[in-house]
Amino acid sequence: MNASSDVVLDVKRLSGGFEDTDHQILPVLTDVTFSIRRGVSAAIVGESGSGKSITALSVLGLTPAGFSLTAGQIRFEGEDLLTMDPARRRKLSGRGLSMVFQDARAALNPVFTVGWQIADVVRIHQDVGRREARRRAEELLDRVRVPEPARRMKQYPHEFSGGMAQRAMLAMALACQPRLLILDEPTTGLDVTIQADILDLIADLKAASGMTTCLITHDLGVVAENCDQVVVMQQGCVRESGSCAQIINTPTDPYTKQLISDSRLVETS
Ligand SMILES: Nc1ncnc2c1ncn2[C@@H]1O[C@H](COP(=O)(O)OP(=O)(O)OP(=O)(O)O)[C@@H](O)[C@H]1O
Ligand SMILES: [Mg+2]
Repeated sequence: MNASSDVVLDVKRLSGGFEDTDHQILPVLTDVTFSIRRGVSAAIVGESGSGKSITALSVLGLTPAGFSLTAGQIRFEGEDLLTMDPARRRKLSGRGLSMVFQDARAALNPVFTVGWQIADVVRIHQDVGRREARRRAEELLDRVRVPEPARRMKQYPHEFSGGMAQRAMLAMALACQPRLLILDEPTTGLDVTIQADILDLIADLKAASGMTTCLITHDLGVVAENCDQVVVMQQGCVRESGSCAQIINTPTDPYTKQLISDSRLVETS
């Protein structure tokens, strides 16, 4: 088609905020603009409270109560998600977009086995019966390298370590075979070796499926090692965005420069 078909997600001048007790909107996102090209490994980086999760949740249409968007566009594969019919949006999102939420353990329901929860997501997205959904759930656990997936299927979230819970969340996110997978702080709180394993796993899954990924993190070091494209956010605004090499080697925004020096990234030449 044209150059725009190369863009999987296009967010333009997105603004929104939370309503306070006087029904005033307190801005949380202001004119957020960025795009993600198909097949890249993108990142949104910024300090805590900069609006990374709210931006991602806006894309998924899953923002918390009290939040509303006041302006802007979100195009997924060229279609404006915000103006389309809600049923069509659900269908499109359900098949093309997926997200691993911040804090994997909290996102898992403690009263159901992990296998049941993954199979449930499989059944929502794929037209299969219970047995086949369980089989596919086990296959997904295997794909995210959970050892002994058959045994793990029967366990409850509290029996999973942080890293294993994160893998289970990844398995659920893959159940809809997404073309864009957003991962919100997938390695925060995990120890360094497990972080590296999870990031390797994400890279391998991406390479095998050809999906586009968007990693949300406050760690520019992780971005430098794992991503091609980066969006830098602060206080609900995009400070700058572009190729990872360009932004890390020749940042133009003072906040990006600060992030680079805080993360003690050695400049590559
Ligand atoms: N449920 C909520 N009610 C009110 N304000 C909220 C709510 N969730 C987030 N906010 C506010 O919205 C802003 C953006 O939050 P967001 O969660 O997107 O930040 P973030 O960049 O993901 O931070 P972190 O790195 O800590 O996850 C923050 O100022 C936060 O306090
Ligand atoms: Mg967040």
